[in-house]
Amino acid sequence: MNFQKTFSRLYFCAVDDKEPFMKYAGELYKTQQVQGLMQYEQHLQINRLQHITAVARVAVDICEKLGVEAGSAARGAVMHDLFYYDWRDGINGKWHCLHGYKHPRYSARNAKQLYEQITRKEEKIILRHMWPLTVMPPESVQGFAVSLADKYCATLELLYSKGIITAEENV
Ligand SMILES: [Fe+2]
Ligand SMILES: [Fe+2]
Repeated sequence: MNFQKTFSRLYFCAVDDKEPFMKYAGELYKTQQVQGLMQYEQHLQINRLQHITAVARVAVDICEKLGVEAGSAARGAVMHDLFYYDWRDGINGKWHCLHGYKHPRYSARNAKQLYEQITRKEEKIILRHMWPLTVMPPESVQGFAVSLADKYCATLELLYSKGIITAEENV
């Protein structure tokens, strides 16, 4: 697998309405609340909007490959990190430690405000995406897909931030 190519496609290809996750979560994705995530850094040069976009792309891909419903994974992924602060803020990194536990709840609360029709399943996808940190595992295949996609994307972001992988042009 070519990580550079995969990384570049996931993070630097423009989002258009035809791509799979947009079919399920296009309206949510276009809201100011989600687009505003662009202002927050996720891992060094990658902002939170790029991160949730990549997670949504991967999670939907997993669900479609497994032949399971992908809409809840798309919506869960788009809203899984719906919080509005820099997670590095804090004293001696203490906030950072707690952030891992707390931000799924902040995201779920913001998701409910943004999307009143949110289902219990989608809420659980958000609440448990940090598993195993959050102890209780995801309840659905879609929840596992988002949790796995999140870890995979965080790894790519870390490799990018360390200069181990770079973005390719013309992918
Ligand atoms: Fe998260
Ligand atoms: Fe995330």
